[in-house]
Amino acid sequence: MTTDIDRKAGWDEAERLSQEELRALQLKRLQWTLRHAYENVPAYRRKFDEAGVRPEDCRSLDDLARFPFTTKKDLRDNYPFGMFAVPRDEVSRIHASSGTTGKPTVVGYTKSDVDMWADVVARSIRAAGGRPGDLVHIAYGYGLFTGGLGAHYGAEKLGCTVVPASGGMTARQVQLINDFQPRVIMVTPSYLLTLLDEFERQGIDPRGTSLRVGIFGAEPWTEEMRREIEERMNIDAVDIYGLSEVIGPGVAQECVETKDGLHMWEDHFYPEVIDPIDEDVMLEGERGELVFTSLTKEAFPIIRYRTRDLTRLLPGTARPGFRRMEKVTGRSDDMIILRGLNVFPTQIEEILLRIDALSPHFQLVLSTKDRMDHMTVRVEARPDTAAELCRAAADQLIARVKDSVGVSVAVDVTDPDTLERSLGKMRRIVDERVK
Ligand code: DLL
Repeated sequence: MTTDIDRKAGWDEAERLSQEELRALQLKRLQWTLRHAYENVPAYRRKFDEAGVRPEDCRSLDDLARFPFTTKKDLRDNYPFGMFAVPRDEVSRIHASSGTTGKPTVVGYTKSDVDMWADVVARSIRAAGGRPGDLVHIAYGYGLFTGGLGAHYGAEKLGCTVVPASGGMTARQVQLINDFQPRVIMVTPSYLLTLLDEFERQGIDPRGTSLRVGIFGAEPWTEEMRREIEERMNIDAVDIYGLSEVIGPGVAQECVETKDGLHMWEDHFYPEVIDPIDEDVMLEGERGELVFTSLTKEAFPIIRYRTRDLTRLLPGTARPGFRRMEKVTGRSDDMIILRGLNVFPTQIEEILLRIDALSPHFQLVLSTKDRMDHMTVRVEARPDTAAELCRAAADQLIARVKDSVGVSVAVDVTDPDTLERSLGKMRRIVDERVK
C-alpha cells in the first residue's frame, strides 16, 4: 500500500504548503508584484492612478479585485517592450505569440524568471507521471512560441533526457520515437493525432511504443479525445495549461493519479474567475473567464490578465494546497454564435467522437446562405468505413448536435486523409462568411 509519505515523495516545498501558508505567501508576493509593476511600468502606474488605487491598498488577497484588468490591447499598445519592468539588458529571453491581427504579443523573462518557469514545468511533468531519468520527446514548436523551450527547460530541470524534436517532419518524429524509446511525449493533442496516423501509415502499432505518458496542451481537448488517445496509444494522457502572457506552459497541470482538471501552481500565479460581461469576481465553482496575476515574475509582471479562457475554479485534490481549474472547454474568441446560440468546437468534438464511424479529424466551416450563418461539420470517416455507415454517421451527428447544442448543422463526412493536419495548434474554424 502506498502511504501518504510515499505519495508525496518528490513533491517540492510549495506542493506541501497548507492552504493557510499558501495564502500568506501569495499575499506577500502579490504586494511585491503590485509595487514592482507600479514603480517600473508606466502603463501600470497610469492604469492604477486612473482607477485610484495604490499598491499599498492591497492588504488582503480580496483587495486584488480593486485593481484594473490587463488585456491583450494593453500589451499591443505598449509593443514591443513597454510592459517590461526591468531594463532591456536584464531580460535574458523574449517570446512572442502571434495574434490573430497584426502585431505579436511580446513577453520577456529575466534569468530568474526562466528558472522559475523551469521549476513549474518540472513540477508539471512530475505531476503528469514523468520522473528524473525519463527520456522526453518534445514535439511542441521551438522558437518564439513558448511550448518547445518551456517544456525543454522544465524537462531538463527535472533531470530528464530531452529530445528537442519541435513540430513538423512527422515521419521523422515517428522514427525518433521508435529508435530512442521515450517514455514521455509533450505535444499538442491535435499534432499527436497526426503522429498517430503516421505510426499507422508506417505499419507500427501505436500501442506498442515505449511511450507511457502524454502531456498535451496549448489548445482545448475533451475527455472523449483523452479516451481516443489513451486507447489508441496505451498511455496516460494528461492536460497542461499555460499562456505566454502569464509565462508559457506550466501555469496549471493535471495530476496523473486523478485526471480531474488542472492544479494551478498558485505559489506563482494567482487565479480569479470573473463574469466576462460585468467583470465581477465569481465564486469557486462558478463558470466564467479565467484571470491571472503573476506573483514572482520580474521582467514581465502581469496584473489581472484576462485570458479569454472559460473555466471554473475547484478545490484541490491530488495536491490539496492548490486549487484546480476545470479543463478549458474554449476561449470566448472561439465561440461561434449561430443563430443566437453559442457553440464551441469542443462541444462538436465531444459528440462526434462518440460516433464509431467518425475520426477525430474535423473542421467547422462557417458560411453565409440567404444572409444567414451556416455551419458545416467537415469530418473524416475512420479508415475502411462503408459508404452507408458514413451516411448514417452524418445523420446521427446532425441529430445529436441539434439535441444537445440546439443548432442545426450540415455534416460532410469526407474520406480519410483529406482534411488539413495539425503541426501545432489546430485551426478548427474555417470562416467563409460574407462580412
Ligand atoms: O499555448 C502555452 C502552452 C504551450 C501551453 C504548450 C501548454 C502547452 P499561447 O500560445 O500564448 O501559449 O496560447 C495560450 O492557448 O489562453 C488557451 O486559450 C490555449 N491553451 C493553452 N493550454 C491549453 C489547454 C501556449 N491545456 C492559449 N487547454 C490559452 C485549452 C489551452 N486551451
